[in-house]
Amino acid sequence: MSLPLIVGISGASGAVYGLRLLDALRTAKVASHLVISKSAALTIKEETGLAADAVRSMADVTYSNGDIGAAISSGSFKTRGMIIAPCSVRTVSDIAYGGTENLLSRAADVVLKERRRLVLVVRETPLHAGHLRSMLAATENGAIIMPPVPAFYHRPTSVDDIVNQTVGRCLDLFDIDSGLVKRWRSEAES
Ligand SMILES: Cc1cc2nc3c(=O)[nH]c(=O)nc-3n(C[C@H](O)[C@H](O)[C@H](O)COP(=O)(O)O)c2cc1C
Repeated sequence: MSLPLIVGISGASGAVYGLRLLDALRTAKVASHLVISKSAALTIKEETGLAADAVRSMADVTYSNGDIGAAISSGSFKTRGMIIAPCSVRTVSDIAYGGTENLLSRAADVVLKERRRLVLVVRETPLHAGHLRSMLAATENGAIIMPPVPAFYHRPTSVDDIVNQTVGRCLDLFDIDSGLVKRWRSEAES
């Protein structure tokens, strides 16, 4: 089996992105190692009605956010990298400025120091200068900021279509073809 991908779910709105990502990794046969923040347990419940444990059962390996000695807290544990979806402003700020108090931010910091890929699906709006500065600093550290901003050229007709496109484009950044992305011109010209 190929290297695992770390999935982080933090407490921004958009828990569905994290859930869809776990589904897509299972379909693509890529092992998922999951860490959920305390606030994410709240947003998951609020937005999907699911308990955090139900989401944990969708992953191959799960860690407690307080388990700062978990495998993913060390660069010697090899992974493809990490996606945090959704990513809160608080977590992006930790990543920007080196805060590593919990496993989510520690694992992200490790991914960056090992020069592996880190994709942050940052969800907040509107944004003040501090949010934008954090996103710039995280980018300068090597992260990819990928807000879940929908495209409409693929003519989505449901929330599912919109979520799938964003999740698929995140996985494109790891060369994982999820089959979820409707690609520009790929059907229109046939
Ligand atoms: C229902 C709900 C929705 C939230 N939506 C967002 C959001 O979209 N973006 C954000 O940055 N924080 C949002 N928050 C606030 C975060 O959960 C809060 O700042 C928390 O401290 C983030 O911690 P974490 O990064 O450890 O998950 C939301 C909180 C709740 C309860």
